[in-house]
Amino acid sequence: MREPLVTDRLILRDIAEADAPLLFDLDSDPEVMRYIGPRPASDAAGYRDRTRTVYLPQQAHPWHGVRIVLERARGEFLGWVFVRPAPGAKSARELGWTRPDEVEVGYRYRRSAWGRGIATEAATPLVQIALADPATTAVVACALAGNAASLRVLEKLGLVRVAEVMLPDTSEPTVKLARRKSRE
Ligand SMILES: CC(C)(COP(=O)(O)OP(=O)(O)OC[C@H]1O[C@@H](n2cnc3c(N)ncnc32)[C@H](O)[C@@H]1OP(=O)(O)O)[C@@H](O)C(=O)NCCC(=O)NCCS
Repeated sequence: MREPLVTDRLILRDIAEADAPLLFDLDSDPEVMRYIGPRPASDAAGYRDRTRTVYLPQQAHPWHGVRIVLERARGEFLGWVFVRPAPGAKSARELGWTRPDEVEVGYRYRRSAWGRGIATEAATPLVQIALADPATTAVVACALAGNAASLRVLEKLGLVRVAEVMLPDTSEPTVKLARRKSRE
């Protein structure tokens, strides 16, 4: 496992197979999944499989991958944040994310964690690390147009809206955002 990242209030550590029940519980809240869609697996075992086959291999890279976000004070699980090459996204083709030098940022938090700046605080060092890597040309993200809180987080991270696309199986447009290195 790589060294955890530490911020004022948070610890960001590499995801592990044992986190599967936390991921499953998080995705069991319909409010959390409101702008995301059906959860990727129907039980914790499915999340464990996905962690082993998809998330753990990402940790071979110095900074790609999913980090579990814990509150420093009590070690409480709050959610997760990732940075990874944009072509790895589920809808990468439809979003036009074909370039591995573009890095996607994403996150998901328990409802009890919302509204305290947690998502922004956790993603900030990862966006900085991604942009500091000469191999990165941009940090990108997407969110449904109605997901105002997520869009605001992305704007606070320095991303700007670049386009809207209508993805299959969605009833509203998806907003694409990017922070290009040339802006630094
Ligand atoms: C979206 C999410 C990550 C935000 O997490 P958070 O820790 O509350 O985010 P932050 O507190 O860092 O920032 C939220 C910002 O959105 C604003 N906001 C929250 N709800 C809002 C709303 N309904 N309309 C407009 N702005 C809103 C907040 O005021 C804050 O902005 P500010 O700092 O300028 O006041 C969290 O709600 C979540 O996990 N949702 C479920 C999963 C999800 O949707 N993930 C993103 C998929 S694209």
